[in-house]
Amino acid sequence: MEVVRTIPGTRAAIDALRRQALSVGCVPTMGALHEGHLSLVRRARSECDRVALSIFVNPTQFAPGEDLAKYPRPEARDLELAEREGVDLAFVPSAEEMYPPGSATTIRVSGLTDGMCGPFRPGHFEGVATVVAKLLNLLTPDRAYFGEKDFQQLQVIRRMATDLNLPVEIVGCPTVREPDGLAISSRNAYLSSDERRAAPALYRALQVGAEVIARGGRGGQAEETVRAALAAEPRFQVQYVEARRPDTLKRDDLPGPPMVIAAAVYLGATRLIDNVIVPQRNPG
Ligand code: PAJ
Repeated sequence: MEVVRTIPGTRAAIDALRRQALSVGCVPTMGALHEGHLSLVRRARSECDRVALSIFVNPTQFAPGEDLAKYPRPEARDLELAEREGVDLAFVPSAEEMYPPGSATTIRVSGLTDGMCGPFRPGHFEGVATVVAKLLNLLTPDRAYFGEKDFQQLQVIRRMATDLNLPVEIVGCPTVREPDGLAISSRNAYLSSDERRAAPALYRALQVGAEVIARGGRGGQAEETVRAALAAEPRFQVQYVEARRPDTLKRDDLPGPPMVIAAAVYLGATRLIDNVIVPQRNPG
């Protein structure tokens, strides 16, 4: 595995692959790699000749007061895991490499960022869309892999790639969970053992909401059901529960799938997000 820290080094490594007509799959991450990230690497490996992984804790997607300073950065372990999973190229830039003095361009995807996490994390999706656009321009992958765990982020990235005519296929991958249902996240490491025991109730609550939709209920009913289930765990401080159409992330009052039901809760000082997608039923 080649580890590159500079933009010219990355361009040279990617050019070498291109000259051999090899397809490239790209997996952008902020490191602290876990089974969720590794599932994206494995998918990329199965579909592309070479896999490029980026590890960059992107400062522009953290608001003041969020966990940028304490975000875990176990670089040596991450590189070991990446190597073991067969990553070919690890791009590990510094903040100065990604944002040299004078950087002034921001990408904003409107509409999709109005609800869900958008209002609670001002500037977050601009930071994500901008850094992902930069990474895709640098690594020029054929396909780029993102988790459904961050469903709104996935849809924002899809929209950005379409609107900017980026020649890349954005691939969404299912959420990897702990055996008790908790969605795997780098932030789960912040939970105390008490909080960790309470955490799976988030997914259970969303599943109950998903059943309401699957049985032909409306988004509002599903949201109420999820809120009631979450209220049974007194440690949760609910930030939002929202049922939305997966493609547009818009609300409507029509019953049934397709729908995504998503929530953000605080468990102590840790913010957890999760969602369940209720797909369109097959006709007949
Ligand atoms: P990060 O939180 O490190 O996640 C990197 C990728 O892994 C994202 O696409 C995320 O959705 C996916 N992922 C995280 N947990 C997952 C799980 N349990 N199952 C499946 N996929 C999972 O998301 C980011 O970094 C950043 O915002 C980034 C896109 C890299 C831009 O900075």
